[in-house]
Amino acid sequence: EIERKVDSLLGLMTLVEKVGQMNQYNGFWDVTGPTPDEGDAAKKYEHLRSGLVGSMLNVQGTEEVRKVQKIAVEESRLGIPLIIAFDVIHGYKTISPIPLAEAASWDLEAIRKSAGVAAQEAAASGINWTFAPMVDISRDARWGRVMEGAGEDPFLGAKIGYARVKGFQGDDLSEVNTVAACAKHFAGYGFSEAGRDYNTVDVGTSTLHNIIFPPFKAAIEADVKTFMNSFNELNGIPATGNRFLQRDVLKQAWNYQGFVVSDWGSLSEMISHGYARDGKQAAMLAANAGSDMDMESYLYVKHLEDLVKEGKVDEALIDDSVRRILRVKYELGLMDDPYRYCDPEREKTVIGSQGNQDLVLDMAKKSIVLLKNETDLLPLKKNGMKIAVIGALADDKDSPLGSWRLAADANTAVSVLEGLNSYKGNEITYAKGVDLITEEASFIMETKINTTDRSGIEEAVEAAKGKDVVLMVLGEHGFQSGEGRSRASLDLPGLQQELLEAVYKVNKNIVLLLMNGRPLTINWAAENVPTILEVWHLGTQSGNAIAQVLYGDYNPSGKLPMTFPRSVGQVPIYYNFKNTGRPTIPAPDLVFWSHYIDESNDPLYEFGYGLSYTDFEYSNLRLSESSFSGDGSITVSFTLKNTGSYAGTEVAQMYIRDLFGSVTRPVRELKGFELVSLQPGESKTVNFKIDRELISYYTANDRWEAEPGEFKVFIGGSSNATMEIGFTYE
Ligand code: IFM
Repeated sequence: EIERKVDSLLGLMTLVEKVGQMNQYNGFWDVTGPTPDEGDAAKKYEHLRSGLVGSMLNVQGTEEVRKVQKIAVEESRLGIPLIIAFDVIHGYKTISPIPLAEAASWDLEAIRKSAGVAAQEAAASGINWTFAPMVDISRDARWGRVMEGAGEDPFLGAKIGYARVKGFQGDDLSEVNTVAACAKHFAGYGFSEAGRDYNTVDVGTSTLHNIIFPPFKAAIEADVKTFMNSFNELNGIPATGNRFLQRDVLKQAWNYQGFVVSDWGSLSEMISHGYARDGKQAAMLAANAGSDMDMESYLYVKHLEDLVKEGKVDEALIDDSVRRILRVKYELGLMDDPYRYCDPEREKTVIGSQGNQDLVLDMAKKSIVLLKNETDLLPLKKNGMKIAVIGALADDKDSPLGSWRLAADANTAVSVLEGLNSYKGNEITYAKGVDLITEEASFIMETKINTTDRSGIEEAVEAAKGKDVVLMVLGEHGFQSGEGRSRASLDLPGLQQELLEAVYKVNKNIVLLLMNGRPLTINWAAENVPTILEVWHLGTQSGNAIAQVLYGDYNPSGKLPMTFPRSVGQVPIYYNFKNTGRPTIPAPDLVFWSHYIDESNDPLYEFGYGLSYTDFEYSNLRLSESSFSGDGSITVSFTLKNTGSYAGTEVAQMYIRDLFGSVTRPVRELKGFELVSLQPGESKTVNFKIDRELISYYTANDRWEAEPGEFKVFIGGSSNATMEIGFTYE
């Protein structure tokens, strides 16, 4: 039915109107104000009236959206509604933890619900389409955008990508509480050289197919409506003009029916890449390569008509792009009622609702990872303790919102101090220590870190003296990760390490709360500080979630979705590495093996790692059969027992090693996980199924297939899992 409608509308459209659908503009003037009469805004307005705009981004709120929609619908010849886009990355007004933090929960249902909250609020505000989820795998914590993804692993990344698409799009996209999702950035953006944003990407076939592609494929399985291409070049061809990626792989091999939007200005950036001579050639390359919509380059609207007339772009390709775009507009119900997402009453009741606050609080608690609790300082006693709280981030209501929270009101997170103060039984003394930044930070401007003002250190040291416990909230400012926020050092920024060591001299009972958007190198703390809790940037309910975990009202169960290096020199570092020809030291002191002379190969905290207030014991590993073939399967089983004294949840993990392959295989790969909740003393049998698909990979035959051979299974609570058993695939 939709196909028929799309076809008949397409039949009415002039070439210029078709090109218009492929054009996306950023919000262009305060639509509640007077109509612009000059400059860019006036041009965009004129284009809107002439049916030359198919989509807009960064217009928000029912009133504003209704106004731009009205121009498109009532003033253009065919009245085709706009699809309104926005970066709803981890919440709209009610902010969830940053995606990397959510990934640490490994809780797919909670992640789906969290995306549902974001979708519901955004849709209530007139938005139809989010530029999320970012499903870029990255092994490089220097890259600021790791905060926006699910970490380093393609298996976990695929599951989370799927969950997030389902959360945004719901079961029926035409429902008014859903938005179309966008799998981005296709492809390879997370592999930018040296972790520097927008940098060159050069990866081989195996990495591309086995590591980078799986989450994109999972997004398609979840029926993601759109893809975004990428700023980076991939092996010499900018992603925006990359025919291999967009046509050969995405639209042909994967038979993808949605549309591809370019990244912001990425068509014109092909000129800087040295791939397109000018704007016209850039438009030609992008259109021919399969970029369906141009975000803010203005190049399609300027050149596509001529390019078609000159025979440089086939009109059939334009028709294909427009079909894809119109299809999504029909699916969203916009063609039937362009104003269906513009109900101011719904906007008022939905945004910030108690139900949404409860859901993001739950997500925040699940995202926290206990990295160390050597002396059992945690959980804290609820009464009679003297506690010092130190660190500017403890009193910060903005940083916990993290980066990429464009619609959030500033300073709306519950701070750590506020969260702690809701528990009344202990005496709390606060000292800032050092300022993190020197000027107010924003999403678009460079964040200036304080490296000189030590004046608060002494006060912090005094506050720490004689206290039962010192909670030190250290890490990164909310705008120190995210786009354009690559770092060459992964240490605690500014003067925080100095502050930590000064406090440690007078009181060793420190609980370090790490608030950050990426893995950090915290060797000194890991060695000296008895307790470390990774609390990321947890969103609106941050302080409440942290306090509940500190006081034991919630037992942490998160596991790291990304390796914490010991040194920035180890980066890229990841658990599913290849063995190399020289993996171990052949004899004492011999130098010719794959290692560093000044650092261990091991990470500080491995992928999948995370503790609980209780203890878990794995035992009784067994297989239903020791081999299988063809479409058969076997089951791995083991017993998991809570041997500690708190109820808790463990993320039980299964890794598989394929011992030999036509392409060398990683030392192990995550292939299954389950969240298991157990009371003290309780045990449970956990089962994982292994079938052909699970052991398939992109082989030397350029095919996704399973190769016969021997495999090892590892079971445990992190990627260092040691309990093992073998099977063969025949
Ligand atoms: O969605 C983003 C993208 O991830 C980075 N460039 C800008 C886009 C739109 O804001």
